[in-house]
Amino acid sequence: MAKNDRANFGSKLGVILASAGSAVGLGNIWRFPYETGNHGGAAFILIYLGCILLLGLPIMIAEFLIGRRSRANTARAYQKLAPGTHWRWVGRMGVLAGFLILSYYAVVAGWTLEYIFEAATNGFAGKTSGEFISSFQQFSSSPWRPVVWLVAFLLITHFIIVKGVEKGIEKSSKIMMPTLFIIILILVVCSVTLPGAGAGIEFLLKPDFRNVFLSAMGQAFFSLSLGMGCLCTYASYFSKETNLTKTAFSVGIIDTFVAILAGFIIFPAAFSVGIQPDSGPSLIFITLPNVFQQAFSGVPILAYIFSVMFYALLAMAALTSTISLHEVVTAYLHEEFNLSRGKAARLVTGGCVFLGIFCSLSLGVMKGFTVFGLGMFDLFDFVTAKIMLPLGGLCISLFTGWYLDKKIVWSEITNDGSLKVPVYKLIIFILKYIAPIAISLIFINELGLIKL
Ligand code: PHE
Repeated sequence: MAKNDRANFGSKLGVILASAGSAVGLGNIWRFPYETGNHGGAAFILIYLGCILLLGLPIMIAEFLIGRRSRANTARAYQKLAPGTHWRWVGRMGVLAGFLILSYYAVVAGWTLEYIFEAATNGFAGKTSGEFISSFQQFSSSPWRPVVWLVAFLLITHFIIVKGVEKGIEKSSKIMMPTLFIIILILVVCSVTLPGAGAGIEFLLKPDFRNVFLSAMGQAFFSLSLGMGCLCTYASYFSKETNLTKTAFSVGIIDTFVAILAGFIIFPAAFSVGIQPDSGPSLIFITLPNVFQQAFSGVPILAYIFSVMFYALLAMAALTSTISLHEVVTAYLHEEFNLSRGKAARLVTGGCVFLGIFCSLSLGVMKGFTVFGLGMFDLFDFVTAKIMLPLGGLCISLFTGWYLDKKIVWSEITNDGSLKVPVYKLIIFILKYIAPIAISLIFINELGLIKL
């Protein structure tokens, strides 16, 4: 988008919902439960909440102010605010992270399409939990079906990006997000009342601390769409009146709430039907169909309606996130390399299809091909969520806390003094000291550089 025709989000609610639309996605409903399951339940959640409060919110405010101040794609933003310095690499790393995330995220987004299809053709009816597990394994490791859905999902994203539908994103978010929320609430009630659900609730609430800091921090950044310029790009469409601090709090609260509720759907149900909480990326795909079948076993029509609606909304939630990822890379290529928007978008989609296919195949026929012991899918997830996003967050907090003129920071956070922001000093203190130190310590300790 050229600078002079940069659109603005139309309303306060629109700003919050579009940002929350980016934040709420597979990260909350798919990734959060399986990371929680892999890392001991309650302990992971506590550290995750700490990361959201202490790192996520202040860094989100920093990304917002960088974006709104510079009104440019994330790479240009740093060039504008820090001309001729190496800070531009922070923006570029973000673009690369966005590209890599989109490539493997679209694989899982594709799975949601398969599950809409399964639900809509009544494919869940009468299956046992063992059958759900084996059919997921068969599906996700097959060479064709997941690839077709992956390409379909990227094409849908592509189509929306090319049409440039800020208004469309805003409008549909206003309907979809509340609907998704209501369905999630209903599913929580269904799940916690299944027989044997108590063990799952206990797992969620009783801490067992292990090496969980890097994963919890990575999940916080991933889930908030933070550390790669996504919210920075969205903030370049905010108006002068937007209250950055309040917006960050609203997005943080909505995002966290959805994730915790997803936990309350998945774990009671998983324990109830005897599925291991550390089943990894397959967790929601093998647990949820059980919730639908068992909770509504007396009324199959309800099982049908809820499962179709749930997967459709999950796909939509994923779509608002893939759009935000795609937009970051497209805006960058379009503005920095003088490509038309359509051409830039085609390059991004093509590149993601290419890498996405490898990610998808790495769960099946290409299982044996690994780097550092990880297949492509797991490698992309690890490198982006656990390294690039927190590293981006570290750079953003240093940039805002130390480099950027305090007058700019103050004028953006308080809207030129017209807002009272009682936590202003705290935000600056965190950006200057707490966030850089905490992120560095977690890196140093958990990547095995030095054991503390
Ligand atoms: N936050 C999104 C989710 O939870 C994923 C995402 C990560 C989107 C990074 C944009 C940038 O699904």
